Amino acid sequence: MTLLIIGSGGREHAILCALAKNKSVKKIYACPGNGGMAGLAECVPIKATEIDQIRAFATEHGVDFAIPAADDPLCLGAVDALESAGIRCFGPNKAAAEIEGSKVFAKNLMKKYRIPTAAYEVFETSGEALAYLEACETFPAVIKADGLALGKGVVIAQNRAQAAAAVREMMEDKKFGASGSRIVVEEFLTGPEVSVLSFADGQTLVPMVSSMDHKRAKDNDQGLNTGGMGVVAPNPFYTPEIAARCRETIFLPTLRGMAAEGRPFRGCLYFGLMLTPHGPKVIEYNCRFGDPEAQAVLPLLETDLLEIMLAVRTERLHTLHIRWKAQHACCVVLASGGYPEKYRTGLPITLGETGDALLFHAGTRRLEDGRAVTAGGRVLGVTALGNTLPEAVAAAYGAAGRISFEGAFCRKDIGRRAIAAKAE
Ligand code: AMP
Ligand code: GLY
Repeated sequence: MTLLIIGSGGREHAILCALAKNKSVKKIYACPGNGGMAGLAECVPIKATEIDQIRAFATEHGVDFAIPAADDPLCLGAVDALESAGIRCFGPNKAAAEIEGSKVFAKNLMKKYRIPTAAYEVFETSGEALAYLEACETFPAVIKADGLALGKGVVIAQNRAQAAAAVREMMEDKKFGASGSRIVVEEFLTGPEVSVLSFADGQTLVPMVSSMDHKRAKDNDQGLNTGGMGVVAPNPFYTPEIAARCRETIFLPTLRGMAAEGRPFRGCLYFGLMLTPHGPKVIEYNCRFGDPEAQAVLPLLETDLLEIMLAVRTERLHTLHIRWKAQHACCVVLASGGYPEKYRTGLPITLGETGDALLFHAGTRRLEDGRAVTAGGRVLGVTALGNTLPEAVAAAYGAAGRISFEGAFCRKDIGRRAIAAKAE
């Protein structure tokens, strides 16, 4: 088979590594891919959002199966475009991707199907939003841009002034363009966060091993929000009892609700959950694998990923028994100095002896002579497995310490809260 992966992050590299294990795969292309994917795939300089060019390339090069892995191409309708050209895909069509592409759609879906989530109001004008916040008595309040905003469209406002500033930035200054033309104002929830990625074929849903992302840039959850600075899997807060409750109150109602709306979800459905004192609630849905969650979860997968993706495409997920390694994974992200704000690129990366650790490239690029240089904010994800969580964490940090580039930094506390929870 000839495959095409659409995207350029560490997640895409992790998906590539899993798919490349399948013996029937003869060739893999990546649009645009990155410096690490270049080893296993042929990287093609077409951006993930250039859907027409991607479709033309895939048709010309005999692509049998495509995996749009990032949110933008999915929300732009990459699956619809490729499928209409006869190229099978793993991923939701545009209508189903709206579960991530529009927070208003997602919140209304949850309300209609009684899926637990934060209480909310939707606003279409800044005047109405500001009037509501003026009367609001409880802070923090959470302000969310409706559309995609590179993971930056959520503001936790500690007081009325911060909330008003966020509304003005999104709705009047158009900080996120059209994504902020509608906003959601929602209740602030507390509790441990859990990411649950799942395979869904429209009818059947199979959760993957749970995980815990670390979103803030600095240790102890300080600093700005990022795309994710590290992950451990499984997540110790997500007990079998909580998993069973989530299945009944969240996962299945979401799957059935999407089908009832005429938008059956096929692909990876990501549940961002908060385990609140009042039970698990949905913080967000994503229509794709998480990044860096995929870099910790996929290395634990024993069943062949391509086989699963093909079963999702043909609605045969119920026929598979998906197996996982009984181990723990830790992924530590090495980032460019200054990320998530300003940072330099083009800096040479030195790789030492990293043993059994898996290196997933994210923001890297290969020079003509084959050397890798930095090309983004999150540069590399270093994943290690272990029989215990502390072993996995120690091995990931051991390997991360042998990789260097000017200004490189990582959080030093990935997994610390999870290890403390396990010890209780
Ligand atoms: P999102 O972009 O939706 O993943 O939101 C980014 C982060 O903001 C989440 O990972 C949470 O930590 C936080 N967040 C979002 N919604 C809420 C909420 N209603 N209450 C508390 N924290 C939230
Ligand atoms: N790590 C969070 C996300 O992929 O959205």
